Amino acid sequence: MICSRFDDSDFVRACRGRPHERVPVWFMRQAGRSLPEYRAVRGDGSILDAIADADRAAEITLQPVRRYGVDAAILFSDIVVPAHAVGFGVDVVPGTGPVVERRFATRSDLHRLRPLDPDADTPYVIDTVRRAVAELEVPLIGFAGAPFTVASYLVEGGPSRHHTRTKALMVGDEALWHELMGRLAEMAIASLVSQVEAGAAAVQLFDSWAGALSPDQYRRSVAPHSARVLEALGSTGVPRIHFGVGTGEFLDQMGDCGAEVVGVDFRVPLDEARRRVGPGRALQGNLDPAVVLAGESAAVDAARAVLASNGGHPGHVFNLGHGVLPESDPDVLARVVQVVHDEGQVRCE
Ligand code: CP3
Repeated sequence: MICSRFDDSDFVRACRGRPHERVPVWFMRQAGRSLPEYRAVRGDGSILDAIADADRAAEITLQPVRRYGVDAAILFSDIVVPAHAVGFGVDVVPGTGPVVERRFATRSDLHRLRPLDPDADTPYVIDTVRRAVAELEVPLIGFAGAPFTVASYLVEGGPSRHHTRTKALMVGDEALWHELMGRLAEMAIASLVSQVEAGAAAVQLFDSWAGALSPDQYRRSVAPHSARVLEALGSTGVPRIHFGVGTGEFLDQMGDCGAEVVGVDFRVPLDEARRRVGPGRALQGNLDPAVVLAGESAAVDAARAVLASNGGHPGHVFNLGHGVLPESDPDVLARVVQVVHDEGQVRCE
């Protein structure tokens, strides 16, 4: 069990559903193209180069904390970093997302996913965490891609609308599917443990594309592997956040995978999400990121509606329902942070 100097922060206390002063807030993709200071230091070339430069990556991690006064930082990295680091052959193309050289298609591709050794394969991630934590006065969230979302990039070859190849493998060759997912789960565990050992005070598992699945498909083919990752992080003692998009029909299952916090996208109001997830779990979310583009007054109204829907429950981490869109006005996001801090009420239970 790792004791963190942030155990008493509003963010960590809210993750655990414990009483705290004010509603904590951070934004998925708070570091990114919406920030001029990000564009200034990001440089040209692959984002993987910026991630491999710990100095630059730590600076980018800190930028949104300085600008917005958010209650947590998130490591600047990407979900495909472990697969890239073991030599699978994946890059991140600006404006597109992850693209792989040769798709994962048959059993003979398994050897391309050897186990991750974080000290040797991703020393820059460990270094970035250490540097960022040394500067930060709020907790740093480490993260990994959930096995399904990473698998979808490797099997499709890039971003996909319908995830047809992924589903065909999942249903057509269950044995190979589970081996692939098992390997990706072990890589996520190794990466997350290394981030916590370097000082991350919480972790988030991003299953951004799990909403492509039915509840039965999720239960049979995906949940056991995400649960394996989350359970393996249990012994570290840091709060675990389990996030997906379009996962309203199986939020209950996401809550049963072992995380303290369930991420809710903008489709399900928090009061309904809490009913679906059940007691004993905190929620994170869920302002629609598109509303930020509608301007300050619309965003403030929508942020107030999110707070109202939470109803003062102590287990709430305010966030967007998905990542900050690159077109977002940072001033609108700054105003949202202010409203959450000024108006968010935490009930004593
Ligand atoms: O502030 C943060 O949230 C931290 C950094 C972060 C990045 N990627 C940096 C990044 C995080 C948490 C991720 C996770 C990630 N990467 C996810 C899960 C989160 C989600 O949004 O659902 C996914 C699906 C990916 C894959 C990926 N990487 C996509 C779809 C893209 C966007 C492609 C584009 O250019 O529009 C990326 C690239 C990427 N990762 C950027 C950033 C800041 C874009 C900007 C750049 O290339 O500089």
